[in-house]
Amino acid sequence: MEREKKRFIQEHPKSKALFERAKSSLLAGVPMNWMVRWAGPYPIFVESAKEAHVADVDGHHYLDLCLGDTGAMFGHSPKAIVDAVARQMPHGITMMLPTEDSIWVGEELARRFGLPYWQVTMTATDANRFSIRLAREVTNRKKILVFNGCYHGTVDETLVSLSEGIAVPREGNIGPPVNPAMTTKVIEFNDPDALKAALAPKDVACVLCEPAMTNRGIILPEPGYHDRLRELTQHSGTLLIIDETHTISCGTGGYTATYGLKPDMVTLGKPIGSGIPAAAYGISQDVADKISAKINADTTDESGLGGTLSGNALAVAAMKATLKHVITEENFQKMIPLAERFAQGVDTIIKNKQLPWHVVRLGVRIEYRFTPTQPKNGGEAESAKDPELDRLMHLYALNRGILLTPFHNMALISPYTTAEDVDLHTKILSELAEELT
Ligand SMILES: Cc1ncc(COP(=O)(O)O)c(C=O)c1O
Repeated sequence: MEREKKRFIQEHPKSKALFERAKSSLLAGVPMNWMVRWAGPYPIFVESAKEAHVADVDGHHYLDLCLGDTGAMFGHSPKAIVDAVARQMPHGITMMLPTEDSIWVGEELARRFGLPYWQVTMTATDANRFSIRLAREVTNRKKILVFNGCYHGTVDETLVSLSEGIAVPREGNIGPPVNPAMTTKVIEFNDPDALKAALAPKDVACVLCEPAMTNRGIILPEPGYHDRLRELTQHSGTLLIIDETHTISCGTGGYTATYGLKPDMVTLGKPIGSGIPAAAYGISQDVADKISAKINADTTDESGLGGTLSGNALAVAAMKATLKHVITEENFQKMIPLAERFAQGVDTIIKNKQLPWHVVRLGVRIEYRFTPTQPKNGGEAESAKDPELDRLMHLYALNRGILLTPFHNMALISPYTTAEDVDLHTKILSELAEELT
């Protein structure tokens, strides 16, 4: 680690100078606090990014497997989006009035996710917050349920952990407004008995979950789990909200379409506008019937749903172009075999070197962990963490021209990623494994 740090500092003097300057005006030297999480003593400052690559101010070029932590999952500045945004820009960015593009977006999302009505927001966090509000309103219940180790954005109710059976603030949570046990039940994923018990009092408005967890590394649902989740939520009058923000990696209609889920609501964000701030949530006919009087009322601007810039003309133009040209079957057909190749490469290294690690894939999202078996819930994933090894891997890769998401060993394959790119990662991981063993 010391050797790698030294190399990083030697090779990134301009980023260092910018970081030093930034510290006097930006909190922690970055415009958004997560950016300090990158491996190395300071973040690299970006000169430009295009498709699957990033160039920094020190003249280094990187293969980008982080892709803006999913915000640019389908590549940086795809041409179709640049063109669509450039076409819209001179004709108005935000008017607080709809444009025709928004109808195309609603129709397309309905077709892909099987829910009839859609709303556009700026971020996936907003989509989740608004969905929770709707669920509370239509069920007339206050509590929500999430899974231990989840992440759904900066939604207060969800920044919780499970500790001795109760919800406690997540470690690192800054300024939690109330004791989260007041708002939230937390249980482990893949545990139908715990779910049944938590929903039995019929006081839970909604279960908000990713269909496969992705924020403590990938945790796949066990066979039959989704059927039980749907049955138990329906039986207890609890709405099921599926957060597809990351699991859009499974296909054009996310995990929901790929595996035939039937949620009451779906939330989406990050890559849906190719990085232009845009997100969305979809709701069932039943939820729409119960809420439409309030949406049409004179007080709708006080509803706690919506935002001045949400649904703006630029965002929906970017969403339309992204859905039409970027998040396509054709692109998935290119990406999936490369993701398989990536996972295969990692698996071969693990086997050849007899490392106590494993690799798991969720469509075009791949993750390796420094434990022999896949955790089946957030608690197991949390105790399997190895922050030192994570950090070493990230810095080792960065020093050799690869960006991995700083939070765990996650890699995303974009439509622009090539077989040579995938093999470069395999080679570098193999060199690290060689050094470590
Ligand atoms: C599953 C999931 N939902 C929602 C969000 C929030 O997205 P944003 O930060 O863009 O609001 C994230 C962010 O990582 C996420 O992983």
